[in-house]
Amino acid sequence: MLTRKPSAIKPSEITPESIYRQRRKFMQDVVSTGVAGALVASFPGLILAKDKDSTAKLAGENLSAIGKSPYSTGEPLTPFDDVTTYNNFYEFGTDKGDPVRYSGQFKPRPWSIAIEGECARPGVYDLEDFIAPHQLEDRIYRLRCVEAWSMVIPWVGIPLGDMLKRFEPTSRARYVAFTTVYRPDEMPGQKRSVLQWPYVEGLRMDEAMNPLSILSVGLYGKVLPNQNGAPIRLIVPWKYGYKSIKSIVKIVFTEKEPPTTWNISAPGEYGFYSNVNPEVNHPRWSQRKERRIGDFFKRETLMFNGYADQVASLYAGMDLHKHF
Ligand code: MTE
Repeated sequence: MLTRKPSAIKPSEITPESIYRQRRKFMQDVVSTGVAGALVASFPGLILAKDKDSTAKLAGENLSAIGKSPYSTGEPLTPFDDVTTYNNFYEFGTDKGDPVRYSGQFKPRPWSIAIEGECARPGVYDLEDFIAPHQLEDRIYRLRCVEAWSMVIPWVGIPLGDMLKRFEPTSRARYVAFTTVYRPDEMPGQKRSVLQWPYVEGLRMDEAMNPLSILSVGLYGKVLPNQNGAPIRLIVPWKYGYKSIKSIVKIVFTEKEPPTTWNISAPGEYGFYSNVNPEVNHPRWSQRKERRIGDFFKRETLMFNGYADQVASLYAGMDLHKHF
């Protein structure tokens, strides 16, 4: 696993031109049938465009409409096989191979998400109400795990902030809390109390609104495999991987900082912020270096995982040793 060569696939090869043509065609269909207008009228401001078979398109193996993003890194991608077989998803077990091995019974469809708390539009929404296929973007991000390994993954998703705004958070909404599904019959790891279930995470509102934060429904142009957090998971690339909560069923706008699973489990080791920071070591190991999966030599870990230009200002004036 650790000795494989990095993939030779170039980012430009991920989204073939045919996909772009499909996307244009899809947009034309939406406009010509007036589907978008009808839906905006029935759910003002919430749904931008849900076409007749967006369910089929989101659930199909290949995601049909993907636009490129300026936020993507051009670094070599971690091979698909590594991204989908070396995982952390404790609901399926604690070994890196457990998620792919034990997630076959998990049913990611149909799926709905409850929106609660400080917002004008709480409710329970179908996955397809969140995301229309034509809104999807490629986002090639570095993922830095707290265990000092990293990958480069071509996610497919939508900006989290755009989605949250549609629920019209009130001025009291200072944080956003996320919850993973609880299904011990489909997730064997939940029958053991290695962590407190369900898995919960949270972001400060300005972090959630930062354009780098996305909700992902796919990777490598395909629907998310179960082991990677199907059908919808968070990706916050400047934070340690455990903030990127998988298989989300609830999003709550809150006034107070919400509890987070790893902080509950070991408060001295995992803080609320969990920003990638080579200057602040984990109590039991250094965070100065990381091993990119597939590389032999370790590389220096970058402040905010290399995204300092976009996010350092969020933490101006904060003591990051205290708020780790
Ligand atoms: N979300 C849930 N619900 N349960 C988990 O165990 N593991 C986290 C995060 N999200 C985890 C989770 C950790 S530690 C990491 S590094 C990333 O998912 C791994 O994502 P990946 O397996 O898609 O690479």
